[in-house]
Amino acid sequence: MNDIIDGLMQIPARISPKYFYDAKGSALFEDITRLQAYYPTRTEHGIMIAKGREMAREIGEQRTLIELGAGNCQKARALCELIRPSHFLAVDISEAFLHDAVAAMRLSFPKIDIRAIAADLTTDFVLPPDVPEHGRLVFYPGSSIGNFDLPEALSLLKRIRALLLDDGALLIGVDLLKNETVLYKAYDDELGVTAAFNLNALDHLNHLIGSDFDTRQWQHRAFFNSAQSRIEMHLEALTDQHVHWHHGVRCFSRGERIHTENSYKYRVDDFVDILRDAGLTRTQVWTDDKAWFAVMLARP
Ligand SMILES: C[S@@+](CC[C@H](N)C(=O)[O-])C[C@H]1O[C@@H](n2cnc3c(N)ncnc32)[C@H](O)[C@@H]1O
Repeated sequence: MNDIIDGLMQIPARISPKYFYDAKGSALFEDITRLQAYYPTRTEHGIMIAKGREMAREIGEQRTLIELGAGNCQKARALCELIRPSHFLAVDISEAFLHDAVAAMRLSFPKIDIRAIAADLTTDFVLPPDVPEHGRLVFYPGSSIGNFDLPEALSLLKRIRALLLDDGALLIGVDLLKNETVLYKAYDDELGVTAAFNLNALDHLNHLIGSDFDTRQWQHRAFFNSAQSRIEMHLEALTDQHVHWHHGVRCFSRGERIHTENSYKYRVDDFVDILRDAGLTRTQVWTDDKAWFAVMLARP
């Protein structure tokens, strides 16, 4: 938990977006994915439906499917229908939510060997030793890779590359640069679901470090930073306040912000270059008609 306190003490303060995801945060994210304004889930799913057969031919059957940041496993569900893997490992930091999702997957796919792995991808996480080494397919949808600055993204992709061994592949969802209004609305919806999701991080911190954040004293902020090609989400203090935790305190002035998330938006060629730098040299790309989102299959 030291990283939380270190981040809160910085000026400007920041926390990792992984702290959105307690059980309530995961459920709120699921609500976000159903919003009309939140195009990424719908668009990525649409690509997988439209191009699914072609993808399945490229990927092949009887793979060991490993989904990173699996959440409700909704996209793995579609992929399992397409490629019928022999094994499915769902990896996520939000443990209770993951276990419920995996229990539902076991009911739907009784012939697949299905396991939940609670792990933090930002650490050097390792797979259990008995995971088959042959034919691994790592699936990282939702453009979650966009939450990382370039050095972190590259480091994670290199660790994924190592998991693939010789004959594995990575299927990754990447959100693309587009009209700013479309982007902005997806991260600041009119119903306030994204605001509730962002604010919930403070309740999660209260639980993790024993702090006394009062969510009524904060508001959601989201904007597109065009110089960095990323959506930024922040929480902004509505009043001057002191936030306490065990052996610590941070004074926030009215208007001061905590940076909670970046979501980088890429050009296809730029992301293909990043994959190449991570050792994934052979990439196929599928996009939707508007070129809002890309699903990429990358191999060593
Ligand atoms: C944006 S959601 C995507 C969920 C789902 N894959 C989808 O595409 O709809 C990000 C998911 O990654 C998980 N997650 C976030 N940070 C993580 C981390 N550091 N380690 C493991 N899982 C993480 C969250 O719990 C959440 O389920």
